Amino acid sequence: MRPQVSETSTHGSSSSSSSPSNRRLNSLLKHLETSPFSSSSSTMSSSPTSANGDSVFANIARGPEDPILGVTVAYNKDQSPVKLNLGVGAYRTEEGKPLVLDVVRRAEQLLVNDRSRVKEYLPITGLSDFNKLSAQLIFGVDSPAIRENRVTTVQCLSGTGSLRVGAEFLARHYHQRTIYIPQPTWGNHPKVFTIAGLAVKYYRYYEPTTRGLDFQGLLEDLSSAPSGAIVLLHACAHNPTGVDPTLEQWEQIRQLMRSRGLLPFFDSAYQGFASGSLDKDAEPVRLFVADGGECFAAQSYAKNMGLYGERVGALSIVRQLN
Ligand SMILES: Cc1ncc(COP(=O)(O)O)c(C=O)c1O
Repeated sequence: MRPQVSETSTHGSSSSSSSPSNRRLNSLLKHLETSPFSSSSSTMSSSPTSANGDSVFANIARGPEDPILGVTVAYNKDQSPVKLNLGVGAYRTEEGKPLVLDVVRRAEQLLVNDRSRVKEYLPITGLSDFNKLSAQLIFGVDSPAIRENRVTTVQCLSGTGSLRVGAEFLARHYHQRTIYIPQPTWGNHPKVFTIAGLAVKYYRYYEPTTRGLDFQGLLEDLSSAPSGAIVLLHACAHNPTGVDPTLEQWEQIRQLMRSRGLLPFFDSAYQGFASGSLDKDAEPVRLFVADGGECFAAQSYAKNMGLYGERVGALSIVRQLN
C-alpha cells in the first residue's frame, strides 16, 4: 500500500500537496515503488534463503565451544551448593559472588554525576586522557620515552583486542611476519596471532622438573630466531605457569634480543598481580624501553581493575630514540 504524505509540514503549519517539500516526497515515494528493491516489483524472494531454498548459512560448520567458558556453562548448570568456578580468573566475594572493586564503583559514580560528559565520537585512537594515563601506568610517570614523544597509544578492546590490533599492524606493515611465543602460553595467543596473519613459533619457557623457568632453553631458542622476528613476552605473572624471569634474567633476555634485532611485544594482562606493585611488575617493560629501542605493549584492565566484561585495554608502540 502506498504511504500517504501528510498535508501538514513538520512545523505544524498547513501546506498544500503541491508544496515543494511534498512534491519532493511524492516523487521519492514514486521512485521507491518502481525501484527494483520495492516488494511490489522485486523479483527477489523476500525470504532470507538461497535460490534452492536452503539457508545461505547451511554449510557453515559450527565452531568448537570455548573450553574455558565451557567450564562456566557447566558451573551454572551444576546444582551443588558448594560449587566453585576456577575456570575464569576473576575476583569473588567470600560468598563466591562477583566483586566490583570500590575504586571502580567510585569512578562510576563520578562519571554519572558529571553532567559535562557527552557522548560524542572519540578520535580514531580513542580517549586521549585514557591513552596518556595507560602509557604512564606501564612505562612510568617519568618515562623518558613518553617525554621524548616516542610513545603512541591506541585504546583497544581489552588485552585481546590490543594484541590483535598490534598483530594486524605488524602483519601488514612489518618486514618479519614470525612471532615467537612461549611454550606454554595463554591458549588464545596462537589463535589471535595466526588469524591476524603472523606465523607462530614457540620458544622454550617452562621446565616441568624444576617447575621453573627453562632459561637456557629460552636463550637458545631466541638466539636461533631470525633477525627481526617478533617475540611475545608476558610482562609479569606468566599465564599459565606463574613463572617469571628474575630482573637479572630479563636483562640478559633484553641484551640478547637487542643484539639479534628481535622485536619485543609485551603482553601485560596482570600488572600488579605478581608483586602487588604496579611499578615493580612493569620493570621488565621499562628495562626494554630504557635502552631507547622499539617495543610493543598490550595492556588489559580486565584483571587488575576487575573490568572483565567492559573490555578496557590499550596498545602502545614505542619508537626508537633517533
Ligand atoms: C596472558 C593473557 N593475555 C591477555 C589476556 C586477555 O584478556 P582480556 O582480553 O580479557 O583483557 C589474558 C586473559 O586471560 C591473559 O591471560
